Amino acid sequence: MSSKTDKPKTPGRKDLPKPDEFPAYPASWYWLGTRKEFSAKPKSLRLFGRDLVAYRDEQNSVVVMDARCSHMGADLSQGTVKGGRLKCPFHGWEYGSDGHCVSIPHKTDIPKFARQRTYAVEERNGCVYIFNGAKPLFPMPFFYDQDPGEFVTGRPFSLNAKSTWYMISAHAFDVQHFETVHDRKLLAPPVIDCPTPFARRCTHHSEVAGDTIFDRLLRVFASPTVTVQLTIWGNNFCMVEGKFRRVTSRFFLLMSPLDDGTTQVHGTVFKRRSKVPVLGPLIDKIGLEVRRWFTAGYLNDENVKLGSPEYRPATMIEQDKEVVAYFHWALTLSRHAKAL
Ligand code: FES
Ligand SMILES: [Fe+2]
Repeated sequence: MSSKTDKPKTPGRKDLPKPDEFPAYPASWYWLGTRKEFSAKPKSLRLFGRDLVAYRDEQNSVVVMDARCSHMGADLSQGTVKGGRLKCPFHGWEYGSDGHCVSIPHKTDIPKFARQRTYAVEERNGCVYIFNGAKPLFPMPFFYDQDPGEFVTGRPFSLNAKSTWYMISAHAFDVQHFETVHDRKLLAPPVIDCPTPFARRCTHHSEVAGDTIFDRLLRVFASPTVTVQLTIWGNNFCMVEGKFRRVTSRFFLLMSPLDDGTTQVHGTVFKRRSKVPVLGPLIDKIGLEVRRWFTAGYLNDENVKLGSPEYRPATMIEQDKEVVAYFHWALTLSRHAKAL
């Protein structure tokens, strides 16, 4: 991951984007599921406001394409996979992993329209991610200067937030709420930068000041202060690193906007794989469960507490300036992505 930083432009509160200027589904990586959920049996999915189908091809790679057949729109998730080809249940058209139709019964020439929209997929650490396009605009991110192969992941968790993706991503830059919601007493002003054109990051150093069970345990077992780095990739993907003196907390939060206007937030915690002989896997399992309990518990509490915050450009005040700057950046990134 590049460590080169570009200072973001000075934000302004005027001319904030109108809600309909934000894309419904930012050009980015999304959560698809765990590795075990995918096999040669087609699986029906709903993502990006579309019906999709996912299956494993002959190379054991997960393939995702639009589920409505290019012929008459039958549901390909009800089809079958043979020799790596997905066969439509209606008239038997067969599609290859690249979405192109490769066979139509009793016909030799294939019409140009006979193809399905496909999506880039990446499998990592037992999890499967999807980009909402055939070619990713940026590689699937990972924690700065870390090798994914050295990490293990916990059981995924998810929560439903009654808010839009941009209101949720804006949390990363909502300096006020670090204190009011997360009980963090900032020891220095946060530093905001863009490590790449597709990522905006907020780093802050703070005291763990809350009275909750989570904070009490953190102060005793981790440390009384923490440096947190929140990076928003592609607008819907939040990568979090919390460095305590004795432990580092790392997790991903990937937002999937749903058809009903809410957002499903999928979380996964990470832990560096233990090198202790024999007991290593057990240490990892316990370590991941503890991290998951902290992280999911913390985020669930916040989600319940906040209800359904709305995007209201007219009510932004001086203290919201970093949130305002994020909204400007989010729109700029969306336009940039569209132009690529
Ligand atoms: S609808 Fe799929 S082959 Fe006809
Ligand atoms: Fe938050």
